[in-house]
Amino acid sequence: MKEKFYITTPIYYPSAEFHIGHCYTTIIADAIARYKRLTGYDVFFQTGTDEHGEKIEKKAMEAGVTPKEYVDKIILNSKDLWSSLGITYDYFIRTTDKEHEVAVQKIFKKLYDQGDIYKGEYKGLYCVPCESFWTESQLIDGKCPDCGRDVKEVSEEAYFLKLSKYQDKLIEFYDEHPDFILPISRKNEMLNNFIKPGLEDLCVSRTSFKWGIPVDFDSKHVVYVWIDALSNYITSLGYPDENSDKFKRYWPADLHLVGKEIVRFHTIIWPIMLMALGLELPKKVFGHGWLIIDGGKISKSLGNYKDPREYINTYGVDAVRYYALREVPFGNDGNFSEDALISRTNTDLANILGNLVNRTISMSHKYFDGVIKNPKVEEEIDESLISSVLDLKIKVDEKMNNLKVNEAIDEIIEVLKKCNKYIDDTMPWILAKDESKTDRLQTVLYNLLESIRICSILLSPFIPTSSDKILEQLNTKEISYDSISSFGKLEIGSVLNKPEILFHRIILKSE
Ligand code: ME8
Ligand code: MG
Repeated sequence: MKEKFYITTPIYYPSAEFHIGHCYTTIIADAIARYKRLTGYDVFFQTGTDEHGEKIEKKAMEAGVTPKEYVDKIILNSKDLWSSLGITYDYFIRTTDKEHEVAVQKIFKKLYDQGDIYKGEYKGLYCVPCESFWTESQLIDGKCPDCGRDVKEVSEEAYFLKLSKYQDKLIEFYDEHPDFILPISRKNEMLNNFIKPGLEDLCVSRTSFKWGIPVDFDSKHVVYVWIDALSNYITSLGYPDENSDKFKRYWPADLHLVGKEIVRFHTIIWPIMLMALGLELPKKVFGHGWLIIDGGKISKSLGNYKDPREYINTYGVDAVRYYALREVPFGNDGNFSEDALISRTNTDLANILGNLVNRTISMSHKYFDGVIKNPKVEEEIDESLISSVLDLKIKVDEKMNNLKVNEAIDEIIEVLKKCNKYIDDTMPWILAKDESKTDRLQTVLYNLLESIRICSILLSPFIPTSSDKILEQLNTKEISYDSISSFGKLEIGSVLNKPEILFHRIILKSE
């Protein structure tokens, strides 16, 4: 039986204005999910929407509709965006799904019955846009440390989750699982800024608004959105039925991929909820950096907002995916600019990949009517090319297993560059002029076509549309992951399809 791999993105706040930064988590998760599928895993890739809370209630009120009407309409925007990015999620959860709501109520009740949730009084500071509680000392210049907006004082009867009780267990878990939080800097931040100074019990219910999952044994309270939201990762699998097939198969998650600002929720509150429920903890939480524009966040009010679909329509889905995956070292912040997207597309996709494929297929048509001829005369220069192509599978796998997505892509690009150099060195157009060199010409073209085949298969998780187009031009059935372990699978005698330009060079905005 295949090994399983359960990967999640955060569930997104419903929005009509997703920006390129929002696409970042999902593109990376999709690339990892596709890579794991390619390499033989039974992947369960989940995303969804986080639909409760005061912020949504307010927006619905402003729009003059009920919160449910509001979210029903607006979540279509996420589904449309993910589909235009080629996101292959296996399950889309909404926190307004009935099964999820009932499951969250049961989780809350269980934690209450066993004494991990208790009733008290909440006095403190709350940031509505971030749905976060803060203490005075955590504020920066009196504002929310995450978004810089005003916080408000609230005081109400509330339920609390005993985070303090689990503090030592959590530290112990971190110690025993050094790879639980990546990059390592984020783990140190959690320990030093939040855990070691002492965890305060967390307020997990609200009474000042209605749009949330009611606490079923005390209906004037609704469950705090983060308890509701984090639970999505198990309710989708059928929890609290621990015997459900999906739960047994996929839990614990192999990877929660999240933006750096919500690492805290995923590595403190979520593990403690799971410990209290007596469940296994996820294997890894990776906190990636942000895409920023000119050093700042992307937003409509800052005037740097553009709908990601505009980029997709102009440059193609793979250019956008490739940019997100390749440009920013995974884990760091990265500056987004349309010019950088264009440059990246031109250099890597048009000049290196596109050019190689187009030159090779065109020459094969010109010299052999598109028929794949068998290699006959080997020279020393071939060996180095073939061995780099064959090493690629292992190299990419090692990078991907360490979540170094941009470095995995880099490995492939290096080999593609080598292929281009191989063309320059072997000069097929010279060989074609001399009939006694036909055998050598056959060999050169075969080596190039086969290298392209292997690279395209390895590129398929990142730029699936282009990878499909290349394999279509090669007209080959050898597209499995197994087929790239040896060099020479491309079928001799079969006929290539016509060359088609994959990426056109784009003129820079600033040119
Ligand atoms: O936080 N660059 O949802 P969300 C990179 N509902 N990533 C960015 C980004 C940027 N400029 N802007 C946003 C939530 N993101 C909660 C999650 S999970 C149980 C609940 C990323 O819609 C952000 O880091 O605010 C996060 O990973 C994702 O978009 C969803 O953010
Ligand atoms: Mg956010």
